[in-house]
Amino acid sequence: MGNRFDLIIIGAGPGGYLAAERAGALGKKVLLIEKDSTLGGVCLNRGCIPTKSLLNSAKLYYNSLHSSQFGLKVLQAEYDHRQALDWKNKTVAKITKGVAWQMKRYNVEALQGHAKLADRETVEVNGNVYKADHIIIASGSSAAQLSIPGKELNHVLGSDELLELQDLPQKPVIIGAGVIGIEFASFFSLLGIPVTVLEMEQEILPGFDREIAILLRKAMKNTTFITGCKASEIDSKTITYLKDGEQKAIAADLVLIAAGRKPNVNGLGLEDVHLDFNSGGIAVNDRMQTNVPGIFAVGDVTGKSMLAHSAYRMAEVAVNVMFGKDDRMRYGAVPSVVYSYPEISSVGVTEEQAKKEGRRIKTAKLQLQANGRFVAEHGNQRGVCKIVIDAQTEALIGLSIIGGHNSEMIFGAAAMIEAEWRIHDIKEVIFPHPTVSEMIKDTLWEL
Ligand code: NAI
Repeated sequence: MGNRFDLIIIGAGPGGYLAAERAGALGKKVLLIEKDSTLGGVCLNRGCIPTKSLLNSAKLYYNSLHSSQFGLKVLQAEYDHRQALDWKNKTVAKITKGVAWQMKRYNVEALQGHAKLADRETVEVNGNVYKADHIIIASGSSAAQLSIPGKELNHVLGSDELLELQDLPQKPVIIGAGVIGIEFASFFSLLGIPVTVLEMEQEILPGFDREIAILLRKAMKNTTFITGCKASEIDSKTITYLKDGEQKAIAADLVLIAAGRKPNVNGLGLEDVHLDFNSGGIAVNDRMQTNVPGIFAVGDVTGKSMLAHSAYRMAEVAVNVMFGKDDRMRYGAVPSVVYSYPEISSVGVTEEQAKKEGRRIKTAKLQLQANGRFVAEHGNQRGVCKIVIDAQTEALIGLSIIGGHNSEMIFGAAAMIEAEWRIHDIKEVIFPHPTVSEMIKDTLWEL
C-alpha cells in the first residue's frame, strides 16, 4: 500500500504546499508532486519572493540617494546588481528550503516529476502509479504569450527571465501596466533607469481604484507611461505600437512582456478524467471541488484570483472540505498589493466597481499628509487613503491606499470587510499612534 495516499497534490506552489502542510497536520498521508527541482512554485522561485528582494535592493539604493532632508547625506551610493541577485538567490534558497523542511515536519512525501491524471484516484509520475482518495490540482499559471512579431528575439523576456538578468538594460520597455509591469517598472525607475510602459487600457493598473492608479502614475520617477496603445512589433532595436490609429516606434534594448498569466491546464490528463475546464482555468465551486468527485483545484489554475494568498486560502478550504469540515472560499475581501514605490494596497470593491454593480455607496478619502508618522518618515510624498461604504448598511466594503508601508496593514481592512464591520464598529477600535494605519479610522470621519 506504499503508493496509496489520503491526498495527492499536483504542484508545490503556495496552493499545493499549504494544502500539503494542512493535510499533514491532520495526520493524513500526503504525496506532493512537483516538476521543478525546488518546492515553492512561481511565487517562491520566480515571483513574489525574488521580486520583493530585488525591489528592496532598489528601494534602499533610491532612499540612500534621497534622504538628505531627513539628515542623511550619502556621499556615494552604488547599486551592485550581481550582489542584489546573489541576495535574491540566497533568499529564495532559504525560503524554498523552509518549505521542504515544513513538508518533512508534517511527514509529507515530496516527489519530483511531471504528474498526469490517469483516473479520478490515480496519478502517474515518472512511469509509476500513485493512488489517493483525494487529489488537488495546484498546477499554477504561466506568463501569457503575445502573438506579436519579434516576441522570440533574445532581448524579449518574461518576468521569469528578467529575474535572472545579469546585466541591466539602458532602455527597457514593458508591455502591460498590470501588477507585474508596474513592479518591474518601479525596479528600473528606482535605479534611475528610464523605463517606458505600454498599456492597452486608458489607465494603468486596471481593476485598481482609478484615482490611486493616477497618483501612482504621476509619482513614479523615470517612467513614461503610454496608455491606450497596443504593442504591434518588436525588432532588435525598437518596439512599434499603435495609438489613436497611428503607428509609432520607440527604442528598446530590453522588452518585458507582462500581459497577464494563464492557468496551466495542459498535459495534466484533465480530458482523460472528463474534468470541466477551459483555457481560463479549471471550474470549481466555492468548496474548491471540480465536477469530478474527489478532485479539487486551488490557486492560479482555477483562474479565479491569481494571487498567492488566495491560493493559500483555497488550499485550506479544499483540505477542510475533503476531510469533513465544511468551509467555503469567499473572494470579497482578498487584498491586492502592488509593491511599487509608493506602494498600493486595496481590498474589497473600488468605487468604480461598486458603481458598475449599481450599489449605493458613500466614499471618503484623506491625504496621508494629514498623518504624523507618514510626514515624519516620507516628507512631502503624496499618499491617499480611500474608503467605500455601503450606504444602506454603513459597512466598510472597500479600501484602497497609496503611500507608506500599507501592505503590512491592509489585512486589518480585510478583516473588517470579512466581518462586515460598520462605521461605528471601526470607530471604536483603538489604533496605535503614531502609525499610518490610523488613516483607516481617520478617513471614516471624512464621510
Ligand atoms: P495583469 O493582468 O495584471 O496585467 C496585464 C496588463 O497588460 C493589463 O493591464 C492589460 O491591459 C495589458 N496588456 C495586455 N496585452 C497588451 C498589449 N498587447 N499591449 C499593451 N498592454 C497589454 O497581468 P500581470 O501584471 O502580467 O500579472 C499576472 C498575474 O500575477 C495577475 O493576476 C497579478 O495579480 C499576479 N501578480 C500579483 C502580484 C502581487 O500581488 N503583488 C505581483 C505579480 C503578479
